[in-house]
Amino acid sequence: MRHLMSPMDFTVEELDRLLDLANDIEANPAKYAHACEGKKLATLFYEPSTRTRLSFEAAMLNLGGSVLGFSSADSSSAAKGESVADTIRVISGYADIAAMRHPKEGAPRVASLHSGIPVINAGDGGHQHPTQTLTDLLTIRSLKGRLGNITIGLCGDLKFGRTVHSLIGALIRYPNVKFVLISPEELRIPDYVRDDVLIKNHQEFKEVIRLEDALPELDVLYMTRVQRERFFNEEDYVRMKDFYILDVPKMELAPKDMIVLHPLPRVNEISVEVDNDPRAAYFKQAQYGVYVRMALILTLLEVKVC
Ligand code: NCD
Repeated sequence: MRHLMSPMDFTVEELDRLLDLANDIEANPAKYAHACEGKKLATLFYEPSTRTRLSFEAAMLNLGGSVLGFSSADSSSAAKGESVADTIRVISGYADIAAMRHPKEGAPRVASLHSGIPVINAGDGGHQHPTQTLTDLLTIRSLKGRLGNITIGLCGDLKFGRTVHSLIGALIRYPNVKFVLISPEELRIPDYVRDDVLIKNHQEFKEVIRLEDALPELDVLYMTRVQRERFFNEEDYVRMKDFYILDVPKMELAPKDMIVLHPLPRVNEISVEVDNDPRAAYFKQAQYGVYVRMALILTLLEVKVC
């Protein structure tokens, strides 16, 4: 039995197969409409979510399966003090696969150790968010035609933004990927990503503060929200929250074929006028999230569709 805790759990070949499957699902949805009939997905969300939870649910429903779960810790027995270990033991008897989001780093990993069914990490604190990364990889590969030979700018809250940590881990395995890390001093990537992932793997990267300086050289710009819920005090958040705002004049500095991604939710970091720019790909990205989660469920449940 296989779980998904980090995008590194899959080899590059396995990732390629998963993304190919997601593209086939997008092209031939009817072929997959009954693939998971009789199977159940449990969504165990101890932290707020719109896209991740609903795209998981849509994914299972599109495969002909059903879903059950909870969408906040308050509405589950966590509020009474139940551990994730006990919860997953019980859920293993109710469902065939589980997606878990938790504010504590490592909670889905703990669950996987006590689980009788595959567990998917749907975001653990400021740590990892592997299914967002699968979504990002599918979006970049589908829209740019490749995952190697790209210069990607990651902009915003690189300290607490788990989507960025997972995406860097996945992209270093492709050839000639250059990272431009765009953040204020206080929100630079954590040492465990800079030292243990980038430097250790001899990866080319630079850290800059001004978005304007980075824009002209980018193939992909990945914007992120300042993660309010992970700040220790509100004043720091207020000081940081509008540090970057991608607007129409800034988009003029960017190449004509750059794409703009954002895991969403957006707060102020991309002005709504940018939505009309053909390079804005974040809503398309959210749609790709359904296809890739369908592919992931099929892969972890070992369902073959001919
Ligand atoms: C992201 C997350 O939860 O980390 N959202 C998502 O799943 N699409 C990004 C965020 O909340 O800023």
